[in-house]
Amino acid sequence: MTRPTILQPETIEAALTAVSRVGTPLWLYDAEAIRQRVRKVSAFECVRYAQKANSNTHILRLLREMGVMVDAVSLGEIERALRAGYVPGTPAHEIVFTADIIDEATLARVIELRIPVNCGSPDMVKQIGEAAPGHAVWLRLNPGFGHGHNRKTNTGGPSSKHGIWHDELEESLKLIDKHGLKLVGLHMHIGSGVDYSHLHRVCDSMLDAVRQANRPLEAISAGGGLSVPYAPGEPEIDIAEYHASWEKARAEAERITGSPIKLELEPGRYLVGNAGVLIAEVRAIKRVADKHFVLIDAGFNDLARPILYGSYHEICFVTPEGHEVTGPTHPVAVAGPLCEAGDVFTQKDGGFVEFRELALPKVGDIAILRDTGAYGATMSSNYNTRPLAAEVLRDNGVLTLIRKRQTVAQLLDLEDNGGPL
Ligand code: LLP
Repeated sequence: MTRPTILQPETIEAALTAVSRVGTPLWLYDAEAIRQRVRKVSAFECVRYAQKANSNTHILRLLREMGVMVDAVSLGEIERALRAGYVPGTPAHEIVFTADIIDEATLARVIELRIPVNCGSPDMVKQIGEAAPGHAVWLRLNPGFGHGHNRKTNTGGPSSKHGIWHDELEESLKLIDKHGLKLVGLHMHIGSGVDYSHLHRVCDSMLDAVRQANRPLEAISAGGGLSVPYAPGEPEIDIAEYHASWEKARAEAERITGSPIKLELEPGRYLVGNAGVLIAEVRAIKRVADKHFVLIDAGFNDLARPILYGSYHEICFVTPEGHEVTGPTHPVAVAGPLCEAGDVFTQKDGGFVEFRELALPKVGDIAILRDTGAYGATMSSNYNTRPLAAEVLRDNGVLTLIRKRQTVAQLLDLEDNGGPL
């Protein structure tokens, strides 16, 4: 199956309506596209959404309604989950906190709410044990290898800061026993945008860890990392095959421990990546030597993936009347308004400006940057004192503003009432 598309005529219509109401740039998400993705992973007993991909509380609410649990990696993400209606504590474990460190404020909050903590370092196990004996914990392990769509998204192996190095599992188990912590499960997330040649190795490493833990566990987690198609023609992951490999490992883990074990999946990108677009307006078209730059009013402060990873996002232009821009193609780079040369959305992996063969739009046309539902809005910044863009959700033909555009006044307010310390 090829890339699911939300760029249907109704999407273009929704985009134009949203632009007329809240201006550009804006993020537009499709609720039904997200629901379809959730249905695809329903074979997993527990799907725990990695909200860092897109943590808008309205998206979280939509996912909770479908029975999806949530992962939080900061105090802020815990508060988002609560705001969206997730119930903390036992027995459901709707929220799990996953990190490699825990600060004092977050520690106090997870203890107060009895939120299980997925520990990525022995120090974290110790700190939780000392502060709250009996607390529920997971251990996140680094199996010694990893993979990602970019080396910056590889979270396994000797160059990764993430997880407990596999041969420190024993020490972590001792800390768990010493402090009477309750080990809920073992977790591995070797990277984001992985290829699946590593899958069997991850499952084998998980089973080694289960043997070493040598005790009943409630669950094991396969982590996230599932890739989604970005370029036209890119294949979809075979989710049934992926599930089957993990299901085999789960059954084996049950045999080893002699008690029932649930299988968790922790996807972020897979659920929302293809379900969102970034919409901007074309403000200038420049000829530079024999090529063109199309300058739009969104920058890498909005969508950072191309400058950070050289990520590919398909870009389409439509006229204000909703017609896709067609005509003879030219080498075109699409870039933003920021005062930095890397503020270019068409980049080559690990390289720099890429000129794509595109039909030239006109000033006032709309640019649609596709597949930006994951790690788009959540990674935006205020660089160049640019406010965060608005977010709109389309559900059943109805458009809802799910985040207002930030204002410059809001940004400046933070600097007004400081004063001497
Ligand atoms: N679980 C853990 C512990 C994670 O660290 C992550 C992502 C996930 C789950 C979800 O991974 P996913 O299913 O979305 O691949 N900003 C990068 C991706 C960074 C991912 C960070 N951790 C990007 O735009 O590609």
